[in-house]
Amino acid sequence: MPTVAIVYFSAQGHTHQIAEAVAEGAKSVAGTGVELIRLAGSDIVEGRWKNPEVLATLTAADAIVFGTPTYMGGYSAQFKAFIDAASEVWLKLGWKDKIAAGFTHSQGLSGDKQNTLTSLWVNAMQHGMLWVGLGEMVEGTAADKVNRLSAWGGVMAQTDWGQEQTNEGDRKSATILGQRVATTAARWARK
Ligand SMILES: Cc1cc2nc3c(=O)[nH]c(=O)nc-3n(C[C@H](O)[C@H](O)[C@H](O)COP(=O)(O)O)c2cc1C
Repeated sequence: MPTVAIVYFSAQGHTHQIAEAVAEGAKSVAGTGVELIRLAGSDIVEGRWKNPEVLATLTAADAIVFGTPTYMGGYSAQFKAFIDAASEVWLKLGWKDKIAAGFTHSQGLSGDKQNTLTSLWVNAMQHGMLWVGLGEMVEGTAADKVNRLSAWGGVMAQTDWGQEQTNEGDRKSATILGQRVATTAARWARK
């Protein structure tokens, strides 16, 4: 049974909603186990993130989906602290040949979040992982449309200032990504 782990940081809950939609998509593929891991700022002590249990859970998974809000056009600091700590796995190429994918959430329509998605991809490449993009046509640009922000490398989600609920189209895109990752993981796990 393939396992999809979704590891992400979220301060105010928007990225969390997108992570939940990815999980829902992955769970919709029969036989998929899903681990939803929300990174905690309290795991960072003197600038260093440490949580061996989280790293072990990720290492045991068949696929890892990475998610972070976009801060100043890149990762949030909390997510970056986790990424840097995971370099101890990279030293042994412990995630090599795992399926990977990514998503980011920002306030601005652009907000320079292409850079965040690209950084997620570069990190996965450094680990020797196999990246799965969204692979969905743009349904339209309205809030309820799939891939409304026209992202191909992963899911881009955006919510206006003061809006608690994320946009339906972004959640739909995230569900599709979760489904695609789970399907890919199952095919990849087949001998
Ligand atoms: C320090 C900081 C920097 C931010 N930089 C950007 C940015 O560069 N582009 C953007 O569109 N939004 C930016 N935002 C807004 C965040 O992207 C938004 O608050 C976040 O995606 C909300 O996600 P969350 O609810 O999961 O915490 C920034 C927010 C903070 C706190």
